[in-house]
Amino acid sequence: MSFGIYIHWPFCRSKCPYCDFPSRPAKTVDLNVWEKAYEDSLTGYAARLPDKTVRSVFFGGGTPSMTDPALIEKLISTIKKSFKVSDDVEISLEANPDSANEEKMLSWRKAGVNRLSVGVQSLIDRDLKFLGRLHSAEDALKTIEAAKAVFPVVSADFIYARPDQTLAAWKNELRQILDLNLLHYSFYQLTIEEGTFFHKKGVEPPEEGLCADMFDLTDRETRLAGVPRYEVSNHADKAHHCRHNQLYWQGGEWIGVGTGAHGRFTENGRFVATAESPLPDDFINRRGHEEYVLTQKEKAEELILTALRTEDGLNRDVFRALVGSDFENFLDAGVLQDYQTDGFLVCDKKGLRTTAKGLLILNALFPSLLV
Ligand SMILES: C[S@@+](CC[C@H](N)C(=O)[O-])C[C@H]1O[C@@H](n2cnc3c(N)ncnc32)[C@H](O)[C@@H]1O
Ligand code: SF4
Repeated sequence: MSFGIYIHWPFCRSKCPYCDFPSRPAKTVDLNVWEKAYEDSLTGYAARLPDKTVRSVFFGGGTPSMTDPALIEKLISTIKKSFKVSDDVEISLEANPDSANEEKMLSWRKAGVNRLSVGVQSLIDRDLKFLGRLHSAEDALKTIEAAKAVFPVVSADFIYARPDQTLAAWKNELRQILDLNLLHYSFYQLTIEEGTFFHKKGVEPPEEGLCADMFDLTDRETRLAGVPRYEVSNHADKAHHCRHNQLYWQGGEWIGVGTGAHGRFTENGRFVATAESPLPDDFINRRGHEEYVLTQKEKAEELILTALRTEDGLNRDVFRALVGSDFENFLDAGVLQDYQTDGFLVCDKKGLRTTAKGLLILNALFPSLLV
């Protein structure tokens, strides 16, 4: 089974009004303290899991492009010294246009990063301002151009279904985005999360029908551009699916290192789930680490929920190998039949997949589908 490492850097220049990730602005950060905490965590896991081979590493945040590239280099070197690492390891880093320049990019590349994920969000200055971003569209385009010259794979994140956005406006912007000719895109519909500034202000996304039309449009346009949807929000051709994210969706294993990070791995035949505290001080003081053993039912449900987000869906043989039973044993047979008749799901010899119609209401399908 594929194994990866997620490393979370929890600091940002400022807090975006829609974001509920464990991230916050910080005036000063003692890098030596952070380096030691990451190294302790990484080497601790390496001693516990000596048989795993690392196939992906993901530096996420927060804004890992803000930190000193020397820290990224040291952590990659620690990973290579402490774990078995495959020759073709995928190493991704999230970069914000306001803290990524060519010099940093060259340092990340030299350290081994081979996939840069740029948080663009929009190519319209007015909307970037609304989203609380510190960069302009021009800054984002410059960052993308510089990244394309340095990294074999560049991805970019966008947020659509913004309040007041029309279908025609999104079509226009989406075409400009696809003209960037990137190998990978993430298109997220704006969600209003509790506890965020947007939630407090009562910001509302466009009505459901328009969001569905925007989703369909995104589907069509990306397919035409050769970067089809392979997960609810992710688009790329088969050769450029994000290997690390596939771990999350297809029953892979990973360790989560840093503030708020989660992990899932097998150890002595048990499925272990880990979670770090969302408070940066807890991680550097090695407090707030929690873990527990997942039951077979919990493991099965997680795998069903995540795999159905993907174009490949839930593979029957993979499920049986991971859970030790058929997926039908965890589903309500009558509901499964109804969902097939209604055109939301397809179930066959290969496994279980969500149709385009089903993807639109995926979260609403689950409660009655699972037994
Ligand atoms: C973990 S965030 C951090 C990446 C990076 N710090 C940045 O902001 O560019 C990853 C992505 O999630 C998306 N995202 C975060 N909150 C969102 C929300 N409430 N609705 C839709 N997309 C969101 C954004 O596209 C963001 O780039
Ligand atoms: S969206 Fe990115 S930059 Fe903005 S607060 Fe969240 S993690 Fe930080």
